[in-house]
Amino acid sequence: MKVYILTLFPQMFPDLLGSGILKRASDRELIEITVRNIRDYAHDKHHTTDDYTYGGGAGMVLKPEPVFEAVEDIVSEINNGIDITIPVILLTPQGRLFNQQIATELSGYNHLILICGHYEGVDERIREHLVTDEISIGDYVLSGGELASMVLLDAVARLVPGVLGSSESAADESHTGGLLEYPQYTRPPEYREWTVPEVLLSGNHARIAQWRREQSIIRTQERRPELMGKADLSAREKRFVEGLQKKK
Ligand code: 6GU
Repeated sequence: MKVYILTLFPQMFPDLLGSGILKRASDRELIEITVRNIRDYAHDKHHTTDDYTYGGGAGMVLKPEPVFEAVEDIVSEINNGIDITIPVILLTPQGRLFNQQIATELSGYNHLILICGHYEGVDERIREHLVTDEISIGDYVLSGGELASMVLLDAVARLVPGVLGSSESAADESHTGGLLEYPQYTRPPEYREWTVPEVLLSGNHARIAQWRREQSIIRTQERRPELMGKADLSAREKRFVEGLQKKK
C-alpha cells in the first residue's frame, strides 16, 4: 500500500516507519509513506496556501488550488494513464467517526491520499469536488489533521495483509468482531498475592477459549454497552448477556 500525506506541516511527521511494526512493513515493501508539503503546490512566489474567509470572520481558510493540484499530481503519478479509484480522505472533525471497520475497509486499497485539514477550515470546493471521504478520529478538536492522519495510518497499516505476523494476528484484538479484548496475564502466576485465573493455567484450551469469550462479553457490556448491539454474538451468548443485565 502506498500512502500519500498532504500537509502544511511535513516536519510534524516523525519517521513513522523507523520502528516497530510499520518499520517491518516498510522493509518488506508492504507499506510506503510519502509526505508532501501542500506549500510546494502554491502558485505565487510567497507560496500562499490560505486566505481570508469570504463573508468575513476570524481565521484563514486553506485555498483550493494547491490542494487540487497536489492530489492531481499524485493521482497522475499513480495511474500511468489507467483510471483507478483512489480514496482521497480529508481529516477533519466534521468527518465520519473513525473505527475498526473503516480501518479494515481502507486496508484493502493499494493507494490512499490523506489531506490534513487546516485548523481553521478548508475551502468547501475541496470537500465537494476533490475528496471522496471525510474522517474524524473523535469528538474533540485537534489543531490540525496531522496527528489524526498518523492515527488512521497506524490502524490501517497493521491490517494490510502480511504486516502482522501470525503471532500478532488481529483476530483476537479489541474491536475485532465488535467486542473488547479479554484480560491477559503473563508470568509470574502469583505477584504480590494476586493470582492468575486458574482456568488459564489449566491447559484446557476449550475452557480457556470459553472463559476468554465470556470475559470479552462481560468487559464490553460493562465498559462500552453501546457496542453490544453490533457485536457478533451467538444465541447462547445473547442469553448470557441478558443474564448479566438481570444481575445488575
Ligand atoms: Cl481528523 N482533525 C482535527 N483538526 N481535529 C480532530 C480530528 C481531525 N479528529 C478529531 N479531532
